Amino acid sequence: MKRTWWKEGIVYQIYPRSFMDSNGDGIGDLRGIETKADYIASLGVDIVWLNPVYSSPNRDNGYDISDYEAIMEEFGTMADLESLIEVLHRRGIRVVMDLVVNHTSDLHPWFRESRSSKDSPKRDWYIWKPAKAGGPPNNWKSCFTGSAWERDSRTGDYYLHLFDPGQPDLNWENPELRRAVYAMMRRWFARGIDGFRMDVVTLFSKDPSYRDLMPGEGMFSGTAPYVYGPRLHEFIREMRREALSGFDVMTVGEAPGSTVENALELVGEDRGELDMLFQFELMGIDHVDGDKWRQRPIDLVEMKRIIERWQLGLAGRAWNSNYLMNHDQPRSVSRFGDDGCFRTESAKALLLLNLSLGGTPYIYQGEELGMANAAFDSISDYRDVDTLNYYKEARAAGVAEDEVMRSISYMSRDNARRPMQWSAGRNAGFGSGLPWIGVNPDYMTVNAEAEEADPSSVLNFVRSMTRFRKEHKVLVYGSFELLAHDDPKLFAFLREGEGERLFVEVNMSGDVAKAAMPSSGMTPLISNLGSSANTAADRLEPWEARISALHRVSSPV
Ligand code: NOJ
Repeated sequence: MKRTWWKEGIVYQIYPRSFMDSNGDGIGDLRGIETKADYIASLGVDIVWLNPVYSSPNRDNGYDISDYEAIMEEFGTMADLESLIEVLHRRGIRVVMDLVVNHTSDLHPWFRESRSSKDSPKRDWYIWKPAKAGGPPNNWKSCFTGSAWERDSRTGDYYLHLFDPGQPDLNWENPELRRAVYAMMRRWFARGIDGFRMDVVTLFSKDPSYRDLMPGEGMFSGTAPYVYGPRLHEFIREMRREALSGFDVMTVGEAPGSTVENALELVGEDRGELDMLFQFELMGIDHVDGDKWRQRPIDLVEMKRIIERWQLGLAGRAWNSNYLMNHDQPRSVSRFGDDGCFRTESAKALLLLNLSLGGTPYIYQGEELGMANAAFDSISDYRDVDTLNYYKEARAAGVAEDEVMRSISYMSRDNARRPMQWSAGRNAGFGSGLPWIGVNPDYMTVNAEAEEADPSSVLNFVRSMTRFRKEHKVLVYGSFELLAHDDPKLFAFLREGEGERLFVEVNMSGDVAKAAMPSSGMTPLISNLGSSANTAADRLEPWEARISALHRVSSPV
């Protein structure tokens, strides 16, 4: 497979609203990010992905864009963004922006024009349908609860919004709209950005039948008539030709509904479509019947199977992107680790795991500190539209308050969106003004300043681990072989290639675990328990994670 910077790079994801507030208005901003450029560089990451920074009325925190080429006022100006890009570039860090073109804001001039009349020249840029039997055109559901159709009083027709009513879906069937999107993308590349993370890319093409969803179908099932629709590949190839060719940029598609099979058609290296995608199989691991608000415990054996399927399934044909959390998911240490007794150990173990897999690793802000989930007592403290809608719907359906709040405390997207914890000072050092969303009270102990000073912190471990990955290209390009498939505690695998053979072992439990191989014939290289750890032993301490070099072929014990 071809070698490139985005395969060898490590991505750091920044949610600007919650990263650093430079002007005291309680909202993170671009200048705030710039003041942390040295910190970002110190993590050993190569690429920064910025969540949307464009003009937006913020129904969905910037995923409802009203101008693709203007910056959200609270975040700063285009000059601030250009300065940030320059400052990061100077440190050798590339910048990837979010591309949200499945939908716009309802305040985008395109939609204002489109909704003005049935004869509007932009009418066809969005998806309008007449009522059916006095109601919506079909039974599609919005990802944020309720019907995916909104009746517009101006004409009586309905428009499609797979997310909030303030996020009308664009009609990708319209060639003029597509041309406008490609031209906008090219202008962004001309401003010097290095790629796009493409929001819900697998939803661009809708099945023209607009048939009803069948029981069990939804955004993440892949068979829904708006997921991997009939013209998706045609659109993406056209986008590559018209917008991407000639630029050395990376593309990663957010890809609900992906399986290894359909993913290969979107990111296969021979396909000429996208470079990478975010699959959701792992993120669905604790959902009951695909419903994220109904949760079950994580089964490690299943987690290993999912990761193995993607590691092997794309090997030699496409490139994985590995993440354990992002701005839409619970904090990784609270979900896959143990944010109680073993917060530090398990946060490091998860970082070691994610940074040892084949593919491009993504680290989400605060993950490098082991920041954890934090529930609010009252629904009025939550900010996320998805969470608030679910609360209303579930309560109206009679689900008990404590049950709803329990589910929200674990799964709400606000867990990942609480302010970055910079210090034990006021507002966790996020800024002088009252933050737009409350800080996690644990900031007194969990914060960057404290971790900076502590050699055994999660922060200092992640730095060692990013360095380690750079020094061992086998972790980037080597083969993957899972061991001990059925072991309920141990996540162990081999990476081989580039003249090296590495053995990765992670004890994903709070108990002692038995090693998967005898320790003879291997040299311990890195461990999350540091040099004090008994890394040569045939057992692993709770949440111990380590990588060793194998000198000879040992057989599993
Ligand atoms: C996926 C984004 O990651 C999420 O935050 C957003 O709400 C939806 N797409 C809609 O744009």
